[in-house]
Amino acid sequence: MEPTAVENWSPTSWREKKALQQPTYPDPDALQDALDRVAALPPLVTSWEVETLKTELAWAARGERFLLQGGECAETFADCRADVITSRLKIMLQMSLVLTYGLNTPVTRVGRFAGQYAKPRSSPTQSRNGQTLPSYRGDSINGRAFTPEAREPDPQRMVQAYTTSSLTLNLVRGLTDGGFADLRHPEYWDLDFMEHSPLAEEYHSIVTAIEDSIDFLETVAATSLDALERVNFYTSHEALLLPYEEAVTRTVPHKPGHYNLSTHMPWVGKRTNQPENAHVEYARGIRNPIGLKVGPAMTASELTDLVRLLDPEDEPGRLTLITRFGADDVGDRLPGLIEAVQSTGQSVLWICDPMHGNTEKTDSGIKTRRFSTILSELEQTVDIHAAEGSHLGGVHFELTGEDVTECVGGARGLKEADLERAYKSYVDPRLNYEQALEMAFSLIRKVRGTGG
Ligand code: PEP
Ligand code: CO
Repeated sequence: MEPTAVENWSPTSWREKKALQQPTYPDPDALQDALDRVAALPPLVTSWEVETLKTELAWAARGERFLLQGGECAETFADCRADVITSRLKIMLQMSLVLTYGLNTPVTRVGRFAGQYAKPRSSPTQSRNGQTLPSYRGDSINGRAFTPEAREPDPQRMVQAYTTSSLTLNLVRGLTDGGFADLRHPEYWDLDFMEHSPLAEEYHSIVTAIEDSIDFLETVAATSLDALERVNFYTSHEALLLPYEEAVTRTVPHKPGHYNLSTHMPWVGKRTNQPENAHVEYARGIRNPIGLKVGPAMTASELTDLVRLLDPEDEPGRLTLITRFGADDVGDRLPGLIEAVQSTGQSVLWICDPMHGNTEKTDSGIKTRRFSTILSELEQTVDIHAAEGSHLGGVHFELTGEDVTECVGGARGLKEADLERAYKSYVDPRLNYEQALEMAFSLIRKVRGTGG
């Protein structure tokens, strides 16, 4: 299908609409200098990769692949470090191994990293001890320290976000391109915790089964399966900071249209997903596959408007709906929205973000999420899709490869009292490596049990 030019759209047409969640930069010239710099730098991803991901997502929409999207709520410049990046990659590779084996389907891996630097906030300002300052909006916008200097939006941070994304992606590409990601050596992905984990036995039995299958195939074929040496890894981030997204939007030779070449799969968040506003306007014109967060406030008619706006050609792989209602609301909200999308006759990929509708505060005021509640939303979502003649084609998690204590529950039985031990997130609580792997096991148990 030859895509046509997008009607009344340009990379700047979002500027005619209402743009929520944007910082106010004090110096327009400094802003323009930074944007010019970002626009002049080479792209982080290519249009070929973007199109390949779109094809994989189209398969997932048909039930022939499964999407694992995961990573940070918010990356920080300080955490652009080999150990953090490598651990996150390891846990994603382990989860995808479990899912591939357990669901008997190929898995597409999309990281929430190499660009996840801008955050929507519930209030534009924050007050402390009688002083009111702009809220921290993520490292690409301002600093976290509660001082007027740090909190002033600094456009040079966009240049730093871009170059830091590039450093992150460089290591991810190097590791996944051979050697480290080799399916014949899953021991490279073992995290230190593995030996002592309640999940170790289950995980290693899968690894052994896979090794045996590979040995068998290589023996029968009398050749080594070179394709096992590398894996594809894609990136995604919330396309929130629109001047930045505009600066990374490019045309490429021999292909029509515009691509966001800072990431493979930008998504529109729950707070900025109104059909009439700027973020949807920006997203509708680019050629990338688009994610759209769908929360409890969304009506059926808003959703069908959004599906038609963001995917007017019903292009395979174009639109991924990321549902995040919360375990209490998913049963009421999801069925009607699935039916509404079915009534458009368009095909979308449905995935579940069981994190963002299930955030709560402990009595001592710490933001957390419960393993059991997260899993409950995920399990209910599997059942609802099955009952509606649809299917869940992927998952979206906030997770880390580190031993943090931010979410409660899981096999290790983390309690509220444990949260203070290693709570590192500045924004939302993430699954730690063990909870993340356990979530993958729980999901395959559920899907197998449902006969899906
Ligand atoms: C997020 O993904 O970190 C986020 C803010 O989610 P949502 O837009 O779904 O609230
Ligand atoms: Co978050």
